[in-house]
This record gives sequence, structure tokens and C-alpha cells, in this order.
Amino acid sequence: MDLPSTASLRPDFVWGVSTSSFQIEGATKEDGRGPSIWDVYCQNGEIRNRDTGDVACDHYHRYREDVALMQRLGVQAYRFSIAWPRVLPQGRGPVNEPGLAFYGRLVDELLAAGIEPWLCLYHWDLPQALEDLGGWQNREAVKWFADYAALIAARLGDRVKRFATFNEPSIFNLFSRSLGKGDRSSEDALYRATHHVNLAHGAAVDVLREKVPGASVGCIHNLQPCWPSSVSEADAAAAARLDLYWNNAFPDVQCRGEYPLAMRPAIEPHLQPGDLKRICRPVDWFGLNHYSPVYTKAHPTAMLGYDFGDKPAGVPLTPIGWPINPEAFGETLRLVHDSYRLPIYVLENGLGNFDKPNEAGAIVDPDRVAFLRRYIGAMNDTAAAGVDVRGYFVWSLLDNFEWMSGYSERFGITYVDYASQRRIPKSSFYWYADLIRTARRR
Ligand code: NOJ
Repeated sequence: MDLPSTASLRPDFVWGVSTSSFQIEGATKEDGRGPSIWDVYCQNGEIRNRDTGDVACDHYHRYREDVALMQRLGVQAYRFSIAWPRVLPQGRGPVNEPGLAFYGRLVDELLAAGIEPWLCLYHWDLPQALEDLGGWQNREAVKWFADYAALIAARLGDRVKRFATFNEPSIFNLFSRSLGKGDRSSEDALYRATHHVNLAHGAAVDVLREKVPGASVGCIHNLQPCWPSSVSEADAAAAARLDLYWNNAFPDVQCRGEYPLAMRPAIEPHLQPGDLKRICRPVDWFGLNHYSPVYTKAHPTAMLGYDFGDKPAGVPLTPIGWPINPEAFGETLRLVHDSYRLPIYVLENGLGNFDKPNEAGAIVDPDRVAFLRRYIGAMNDTAAAGVDVRGYFVWSLLDNFEWMSGYSERFGITYVDYASQRRIPKSSFYWYADLIRTARRR
């Protein structure tokens, strides 16, 4: 199978895969884990097919097998997240030792396999007990998060050096259920939470640096260009509003110490003296998740005045309907490089599908292979043009719980048969293994 050129990538380029706690672990009621907001959404039947995270990929029990899979794949790094309510069932207060011990075992297994752990503190599974106190609306959340970061640093910082504070802050805030009605009246809550998450990021960076010698710290941002669905001025204005929030509300202040000009009046009521300095702490890298451009139309009464719009005719789409556009990935990489001047790690990229085994029991996924080939090729081109990109992680190692879509959409390079929990590497797995082997041989 055709491989893209990787000739412009650095010799120490890092190849990896990513997952997250709620999406793969299962064991939601085991060993003293407390409920997260996502357990509650699942219980309320909000997820497609009423799916839940109760078993997911059963990674909590099968992590050894999953690390062995990664070893077969040949990745140098694995990005995972800690389930905050597994280690602090109430979000703060008493530590749940059995829950914490799981991550110790996982990290040891990774290190023994020669795979570097990349630990993300927050991939959306907020402890429900904290949501009951207002969650990210409450400025106290900054302290809750810093204390949680301190615990993880103290217990795992001897073996883990790569830390991400948040995964995709713009996404979990934009789509948060706690903002009210989702109309213009929700905007104040959106900006309040935004500011608190930014403060929590800054506080956690300080804690990690203080407690972990040699820590390498960053935040993971989802950046996708937001484009208008039509030529109408109203759609263009809506796309610009969404674009500003989605792509700038977090990285600008974290990396440059300033909110975008147009956002300042909305942030102002929540800003206290010294906040911008508290947020803008030096980070070591920029984590980028990228999938596809987002088409947007005007919706004057909705929050930020936008809605998702139709994709223009002729735009190529993945099987789950996301636009395929490797050039936009290249442009995003260039934009991040020009705007923030930090080493970039691509910490998510991949394709969602409805994969099924064929009659021979194999999962043949040429769409995913073609997607990865073109996106990795685009990344290599930007590196040739001087963009400082240092790593690439496929989303995801395994098919998993895809949030509101439950298990219906599959992003894995490994198929998970949820009935038996059998893992079956897809053709994309073998292709990626081949790519890594070839790239590292250079
Ligand atoms: C971004 C998120 O970080 C991850 O949790 C999700 O599954 C993938 N994108 C695919 O939607």
C-alpha cells in the first residue's frame, strides 16, 4: 500500500495513537469510581441507541492487551486521559487509591513496552459532584483542577513527563449542556466557563512544572476553519463568529496573553486583575487536533448566532459526513506555526466510518488509509516549508464511545467487537505500522 513521503519530518519525529478515558475504559462503577457528567447523560438516554460508557472497550481490564497492540503497531507514544472521578470520586477531597493504582499499572506497562505516556488531565469526564456545584461556571473550579493536577503530578510525575491540561476546550465548552437554553442568553455562561477553563489551564501548568522535574506541558486544541455554507453575508458573519470562538478563545490567551479583540467585552465581566498573566504560562508545545473544515450558517437566535450548515455540493465527505480536505489541515498547521511559534504535535487526526468485518472476518478500510495518507502527506509538505511539527497521533487506537453517537461511529485503526471485546486490527493498522517502520528506518 502506498505510503506518503515523510522525508521532511524530523529524525526524532514521534508517531503515536490517542484515546480517552470515558471513551474506552468502561468499569464505570468499579473500584470506587464516582460518576462523571457523561455517565449521567448516558443514564438519561441522551446518546444514540441509548449507549453508555459502562463497558466501552473494557480497557480498564484489558489494558495489557491494548499496550501489546500498540507495541505491534510500533508507536513511540500513547496519549490517554485520566478519568478525574476515578481518582477523586467527588472531584476533590478523598483520593480513590484503587482508581489511581490503575493508571500506575497502565504507565508501568507502557514504559516496559518502550512507549512514552502522554497524559491528558481532562478529556471531558467532569465529576458529576463538581457539576452539581456549578462545574466550570464556578470560579472555584480553578482550584479543584489545580489540586487534581497536583495529585496526578505527585503520583505519576516520577514516570510521566508529557502532560496536557485540557483536550479541546473550545469543543467541550461550545457543546456543554450547562449553558442554559443554547440561545443568545447562554453566551454569558459560555464566556464565564471559557475564562475559568483558561485560568484552570494556567494554574495546572504551574503545578505540573513545580512538582514534576523535566515536565513537558501543553494544551490540546481542536482547530478547524469555519466556513460559510453559502455566499450570503449573514452566513459569512456567522462563520466568522464561530471561527473566532472555536479557534481563538483558548490558544490566544494561553499562548499570547490576550483574548481576541472582539471577544473582550464578553470576557470583561468575568475578568479579575492579574488573570491574563495567570493564564498565559509558558508551555512547551501546541497540541493540535484536526479533522475537517466546518460549514456554518446564520441562526440569529442561537448561541453565537450560528448553526451547522449544508456542505456545498461536490465537497468530498467521509462516511460519517465530515469534509475531507488535507489542504485545510496544511493551512491550519501553518496558521498555528505563524500565530504561536511553538513546536506542534498533532494529537488527533483520523476518519470515522461504520466499519464491519467482511466474510473472512477482516476489516478492510481503504477510505481510512487514503485519508491518513493524504493528511500525513500534507503535514510532511508543511514541515518542508518550515512548520515545526514534531509528532502525529492517530485518533484512535481502538473503535470507541463516540460521544453523542455512541458506538455507531468507528474511528479506530483496530476494530472492537463489542459483544466479545475482541480486537481486530483493520488494514489501516497494518498500513500505519508499515508507515512508522519505514519513516523510522530513514
Ligand atoms: C475529538 C475528541 O477529542 C475525541 O474525543 C473524539 O472522539 C474525536 N474528536 C472524534 O470525534
